[in-house]
Amino acid sequence: MDLIKRPRRLRNSPGLRKLVRETNISVEDFIYPMFVTEGTGIEREISSMPGINHYSVDRLLFRLEKVEKAGIPGVLLFGVPDEKDEVGTGAFCSDGIVQKALRQAKQRFPELVLSADLCLCEYTSHGHCGIIKDNKIDNDLTLEVLAKAAVSLADAGADIIAPSDMMDGRVAAIRKDLDGSSFTDKAIMAYSAKYASAFYGPFRDAAGSAPAFGDRKTYQMDYHGRKEAMKEIELDIDEGADIIMVKPALAYLDIIHEAASRYDYPLAAYNVSGEYCMIKAAAEKGWIDEKGAALEFLTAIKRAGADIIISYFAIDAAAWLK
Ligand code: PBG
Repeated sequence: MDLIKRPRRLRNSPGLRKLVRETNISVEDFIYPMFVTEGTGIEREISSMPGINHYSVDRLLFRLEKVEKAGIPGVLLFGVPDEKDEVGTGAFCSDGIVQKALRQAKQRFPELVLSADLCLCEYTSHGHCGIIKDNKIDNDLTLEVLAKAAVSLADAGADIIAPSDMMDGRVAAIRKDLDGSSFTDKAIMAYSAKYASAFYGPFRDAAGSAPAFGDRKTYQMDYHGRKEAMKEIELDIDEGADIIMVKPALAYLDIIHEAASRYDYPLAAYNVSGEYCMIKAAAEKGWIDEKGAALEFLTAIKRAGADIIISYFAIDAAAWLK
């Protein structure tokens, strides 16, 4: 055959394939999400998330040592408090579970980038991400509480505040109060384009944060659209976000791609609990190769344009990538 162009030439050996490879994921791309709970000596596997645990602060510190040794630059902390109330006091009180964890973690691991998820759903008795007034999530009342929580998390040692609530105006409210409390150097990683997704199911079991009534569709985005995602990202940038985020990742690679090409801001993608668990469950059944499938997904997220990948696979991926 008289073929001049033969793409297979460059696939002929592992060396050639490596040489022309366009996307490489690295351990340095990852943020590892972790769940911290009250008590001591607790390291309890979350039934809906194989391989992921609830840690009391003392055990969390052991695990952080592993994260740091693996070369993962940072973690994202979620709180699983003992007590909840109507206004989510646990989110903003100085002895909140994440605040306690941050204080110790910062002292022991000053180099590790500590991100704190900022939301009320883990701390409210009703499980919604905002304050409820007249049976509705009250946007502006929620902003006051979120800003207070942000200052409290910053004060405890968080390097990055990561609001995941999807209230309008939260980034501006948080930035204002952080700056007002002299936390001008604390970064905001905004869950900018966060869709109302079925893929958060395992996380809600893990965090005990499923809404007691209704759903999150009045604040999280409808997944049929993409323009709204760009609008939300633009608003967050205007309000002072340092890092923008698309969440979930895998069903939203188009959104990641568009955000990466439109905005010159670091872009994070959250490879959420359901995405993680699907691979875990299929692998457990022997239906899929866990390492192969996970690395393919994680690479796709980066190829789409994410700079930062938040993933429960981070520790495994660090070992696989060695
Ligand atoms: C809190 C929050 C959620 C997740 C991150 N922050 C759950 C939700 O919005 O219901 C999901 C993370 C995951 O599924 O891994 N608002």
